[in-house]
Amino acid sequence: MKNPKELAGRAAAELVRDGMQVGLGTGSTVHFTLVRIAERIHDEGLRILAVPTSEDTLRKARELGIPLVELGRVERLDLTIDGADEIDGRFDMIKGGGGALLREKVVASISAREAIVVGEDKVVERLGVRFKLPVEVVPFAAPVVARALEALGARPTLRKTAAGATFVSDNHNWIFDCAFANGIEDAARLDQALKRVPGIVETGLFLGLAHVLFIGCADGRVEVREKK
Ligand code: 5RP
Repeated sequence: MKNPKELAGRAAAELVRDGMQVGLGTGSTVHFTLVRIAERIHDEGLRILAVPTSEDTLRKARELGIPLVELGRVERLDLTIDGADEIDGRFDMIKGGGGALLREKVVASISAREAIVVGEDKVVERLGVRFKLPVEVVPFAAPVVARALEALGARPTLRKTAAGATFVSDNHNWIFDCAFANGIEDAARLDQALKRVPGIVETGLFLGLAHVLFIGCADGRVEVREKK
């Protein structure tokens, strides 16, 4: 049986066209997109310039021979391909399970088209029921932000590494993973409230940013959905 992440990740790589400037997301599904893009560069002579959304993707892209360009040298990206932790019927998402939410959101914000690659288990009715919402915070502000998160109905947990140390993002910040008892009722309102809290750098709510969704299914199909 094929891995749903591999099916979705590889299928979305076919959106890339010669001459494009492409944003490269982060995570285990996008990993397969990177591999397929590298194959196409090798086999078809595909010419692209790519902006990675994390140090992890930067390293992988370099190893695979994908040509990179600094964010400051591009105004717009033609296409970004990224993963998600949850995505609902409106294509609103929770992202940041891999800790790359800030750079992912910056890159998404300058992308003409954002393609999302997921296994079918990531498609949900309501955000935040199964996956905790990542919120990136400045370390100095963490105690203040934790209280503000609780006041907004969240149960925040400071993210740790497998070794038990505090997880530090590529931007030298910390991440609170926020549980909500019944999921997130109004994502737009919550996002606005979170952004008003001093010390919160970015939230893992990606609202209105995705255009096309590639869902890898356990039966070997890839379902492609365009935003209505
Ligand atoms: C990283 C992300 C990832 O896109 C998200 O966590 C999905 O990862 P995976 O494809 O490994 O399930 O938002 O910050």
